[in-house]
Amino acid sequence: MTGLFSPLSLSDFNLPNRIVMAPMTRNRANAEGVPTALMASYYGQRADAGLIISESVPISPQAVGYPCTPGLFSAAQLAGWRQVTEAVHARGGRIFAQLQHCGRISHPSLQPEGAEPVAPSAIQPQGMAVTCNGMQAFVSPRALRTNEIVGVVEQFRAAAQLARTAGFDGVEIHGANGYLIDQFLRNGSNHRTDNYGGTPARRLAFLLEIIEAVSEVWPREHIGVRLSPENRFNDMTDSDPDEHFAYFVTQLGHAKLAYLHVLEGEMMTQSGVLDYGALRRCFAGLYIANNGYDKARALDVLRDGKADLVAFGTAFIGNPDLVERLRHDWPLGAPDPETFYTGGERGYVDYPVFAPIAGDLP
Ligand SMILES: Cc1cc2nc3c(=O)[nH]c(=O)nc-3n(C[C@H](O)[C@H](O)[C@H](O)COP(=O)(O)O)c2cc1C
Repeated sequence: MTGLFSPLSLSDFNLPNRIVMAPMTRNRANAEGVPTALMASYYGQRADAGLIISESVPISPQAVGYPCTPGLFSAAQLAGWRQVTEAVHARGGRIFAQLQHCGRISHPSLQPEGAEPVAPSAIQPQGMAVTCNGMQAFVSPRALRTNEIVGVVEQFRAAAQLARTAGFDGVEIHGANGYLIDQFLRNGSNHRTDNYGGTPARRLAFLLEIIEAVSEVWPREHIGVRLSPENRFNDMTDSDPDEHFAYFVTQLGHAKLAYLHVLEGEMMTQSGVLDYGALRRCFAGLYIANNGYDKARALDVLRDGKADLVAFGTAFIGNPDLVERLRHDWPLGAPDPETFYTGGERGYVDYPVFAPIAGDLP
């Protein structure tokens, strides 16, 4: 029976377990978006995950949507990420970079020359942007011109190349959670009338072009994609996620990717109505399930063939030794949401490993 500790071949790696560390933005880069030594410690502590997916990595200055997020578009960032990949590899782990463009989930104060953020359509999201001067209302983004899209695709290719040079083992293209690619996929945020809007096929075209460009620098089996069909986070809606995502996922199955990673349901409430077993069957390839999983639920989906791997997010924040805790059924430490995004060591690299008293060992 497939369990969390059944090995798995993913691209050319033999993963020792099916536990994935989910991508999590932690705002511990410096003000220039350069990864720090502290980040190398954090990821190194968690290297016994079958696979680590890095926090979102902005692919260009225009892609930035939050302060102190570690990008991949400068020599300093490349060197910073190299420390991270080396720390993970030194402990026998594997790490993919999550390539990210925030699109409209940004703010002029985070953009080059104070420009408006870009998006498929000039539709202002409800809510507040996180800026260097606190929370500020989102602005109406500027719709990308058709002839600009090739340039954004090129930003993904260039960052994918830098990810390779920095020693990552692969890349995950961030098509989830209301950021630029997701803004193209879902029709609440995409009202375009050119070849990138309208039908599901046209809304998917941007992502397919990115996959094509990234596969110029990475073999397909080192490229994953993340989607979140029902997540309303960042003011996202779609008129028919069931039908549209079944189509997207079926098409992505032809791309021979390393995996499809799905944030199932709504991120904040962890509820959902889609049948993810059915969605999983639309995808020809490995499937990573995520959102609110504990060990029991993870074992269920692995056993039932509804997933090949399970990604854990917040559990990895509070438990650097999550893999061993799951293996031995040791209790899990609670992560502290107050320090998720604050910067610094506290709530980042100072969570203890479980220290069982010898006599209490299960
Ligand atoms: C602090 C924090 C930061 C996150 N940052 C990202 C991110 O950078 N990219 C992403 O795709 N998802 C991000 N997520 C979502 C997680 O990857 C994951 O989907 C979510 O936490 C649900 O999984 P869980 O219930 O196991 O925590 C973040 C979540 C948290 C709590």
